[in-house]
Amino acid sequence: MQHSFFENPELYFKNDIPTGKIVWKSPSNIALVKYWGKRPVQLPMNPSVSFTLNNSVTETAVEYSPAKKGLNVTFYFEGKRNVSFEEKTKKFFENITNIFPFLNQLEFTIHSKNSFPHSAGIASSASGMSALALALCSIENDHFGTLNNENDFFRKASYVARLGSGSAARSVYGGVVIWGETSAVPGNSDLYGIPVTGNVHKDFLNYHDTILLVDSGQKKVSSRVGHSLMENNPYAKTRFKQASENSVKILDILKSGDKEDFIKIVESEALTLHAMMMTSNPYYLLMKPGTLNIIENIFEFRNETGIPLCFTLDAGPNVHLLYPDENSESVNNFINDRLKPYLSQNGFIKDNVGNGPERLI
Ligand code: DP6
Repeated sequence: MQHSFFENPELYFKNDIPTGKIVWKSPSNIALVKYWGKRPVQLPMNPSVSFTLNNSVTETAVEYSPAKKGLNVTFYFEGKRNVSFEEKTKKFFENITNIFPFLNQLEFTIHSKNSFPHSAGIASSASGMSALALALCSIENDHFGTLNNENDFFRKASYVARLGSGSAARSVYGGVVIWGETSAVPGNSDLYGIPVTGNVHKDFLNYHDTILLVDSGQKKVSSRVGHSLMENNPYAKTRFKQASENSVKILDILKSGDKEDFIKIVESEALTLHAMMMTSNPYYLLMKPGTLNIIENIFEFRNETGIPLCFTLDAGPNVHLLYPDENSESVNNFINDRLKPYLSQNGFIKDNVGNGPERLI
């Protein structure tokens, strides 16, 4: 599908302008192969592959009514008016009026909340932007009936979510999702994510992701700045090639169920992501001592027990522990016995691979 599919100039109200309310709950996701580096407009430099999570979600209620003075947004985050989110959302809506011309005819009151603590240092852009994109697609379909085909609906939601935040493109589906072009997967695209869950071994579909909260502070370097520093990173070209190869490899591994090979790619991807940060100009470091202590303990635990526990990182110090359902008791004991000293007061969040977003109203 091309850009033209997503931009329909006919999508504006010709007679009465409606009032309504739509609520979506949408999850975060954890990348196995990382998206790091982009080109305009929000297009990835390499494909990325992720597990959609189950418990780490944003719930967003979008109320809309006829605009009194053009497009307007009032935004409440966790019950409180949030001017920063309000400005960002308004700007985002203004940028996508070519996709949804009806936005110019409406004003919005948005209430959004996360299931995870705001101070936990978990990126909420994937769950937040996907929930918002899904709500806009629901407004379109409820009033124009143009997205009745489920594939079309979620593809458009992914396309719009991508424009809000790249990783959000992967959050509109459950299970395993790929975003970004590779010859290995028919029908995939830089413009939107597609689900590949049908080709995944059952062991991976109930994998656990326990998120160890090492440091609760705000991100020191935003993803936007981090991505842009890849433009001059001397290793960027090699990295993009490696990530493309790893995307193809991980899909094979996810199909076969081979946990040893899974560990090799996933851990290498996490460390390479951070290596890119350390080799940017200016360089920066998002891991904390606790992050490294946890990683060393994981290596030891794996050597001692043979349990295929592995880690991944996103753009911060928190550690995601990925492991099969059958090992959850041993891993819980390991966290309690050996990792507690490295956790912040927020502790950890237990999550697992989930089924994707849900419309509540
Ligand atoms: C390290 O999606 O947060 O989590 O497109 O600028 O919003 P923007 O960036 P974002 O980047 C995510 C980076 C990552 C890796 C990943 O999720 O693939």
